[in-house]
Amino acid sequence: MPNIEQIVQKYFSLEHIENIQNLDGRIIITLIDTPENMEKAEDLKKELLNADGVSKATVIFTRKKAAPVSSGIEKWKMQNIKHIIGVASGKGGVGKSTTAVNLALAFANLGQKTAIFDADIYGPSIPTMLSFENTPPVSYNGTIFEPFENFGVKAMSIGSLVDRDTPLIWRGAKACGAIEQLFKETNWGDIDVMVIDMPPGTGDIQITLSQRIDFDGVVIVSTPQDIALIDAVKGVNMFEKIDVKILGLLQNMAYYVCPDCGKKAYIFGENGAKETAERLGEQFLGEIPLDIAIRQNADAGTPVVAALPDSPNTKAYEEIAQKILKALS
Ligand SMILES: Nc1ncnc2c1ncn2[C@@H]1O[C@H](COP(=O)(O)OP(=O)(O)OP(=O)(O)O)[C@@H](O)[C@H]1O
Ligand SMILES: [Mg+2]
Repeated sequence: MPNIEQIVQKYFSLEHIENIQNLDGRIIITLIDTPENMEKAEDLKKELLNADGVSKATVIFTRKKAAPVSSGIEKWKMQNIKHIIGVASGKGGVGKSTTAVNLALAFANLGQKTAIFDADIYGPSIPTMLSFENTPPVSYNGTIFEPFENFGVKAMSIGSLVDRDTPLIWRGAKACGAIEQLFKETNWGDIDVMVIDMPPGTGDIQITLSQRIDFDGVVIVSTPQDIALIDAVKGVNMFEKIDVKILGLLQNMAYYVCPDCGKKAYIFGENGAKETAERLGEQFLGEIPLDIAIRQNADAGTPVVAALPDSPNTKAYEEIAQKILKALS
């Protein structure tokens, strides 16, 4: 009996041969479905049938297998979402969620179909900030949730799945699985910009999530204190290591404006995030002041961009949103 494999390989390269079976002289070859392969298959069959001991030669054609994603990790695929932007921070409590929600409203003001997804399992706060706390999500067909919608922005939160006072003690894979499922099972519709409020820090959950979400890039939020900036650098390093683009650093609570004299006071130091961005070779996106109106409006469920559309704060968020859109294009 001749070497069947050698004969087949004379006609086809290895990546076109899916399978070769020899059942007592009845040969079944499975090949990738291309017009050239179909043509060559006739010659192969003739040669095989002339070989000693071959009674039958059959060729089956099959579709090409999907190429694996280069990193080996399959990303969540959402065809109707054009851009996904993460808002992340190395340290908790720096104003990541406040920034994410105001940026989302700013994108909507700039004419983008916008959504926000709250993936912060440790402290989901988007329901409070967009006034859908205590409202269970609606599903018309029992499998897909309708997103909430407020101020022209669609929203869903991992906090919608659990009640507010239950701490989320899911570990790694379970947390990521729940986040992925909720994200995929929300009826987002067509979205230009999806903002994702990420869990703070650089642990396993953050890394896995960041590898699985098909990010166009992430914005790193930091306050000007050294301790927050050190953690911001850790965040930048984490995203770089897993090949997620950094869209830039944003300095939150940058300065305080004296309500009496209007003077800016840089209570935590002046150019921390800007200098850190320069040192790392990343874009500095801008600064947002420490302003009581930002906190009060977020707590009240009407973020400042919606509550005070003509304020300098809204302008600042819109300018940053514009820079991000530019970085995306
Ligand atoms: N620029 C700002 N001016 C005034 N208050 C702010 C500003 N940014 C955020 N805050 C307030 O600081 C607190 C923390 O902000 P936020 O919840 O957005 O932080 P976070 O980084 O998302 O925190 P966590 O790590 O808990 O998720 C909130 O009370 C918020 O209203
Ligand atoms: Mg938060």
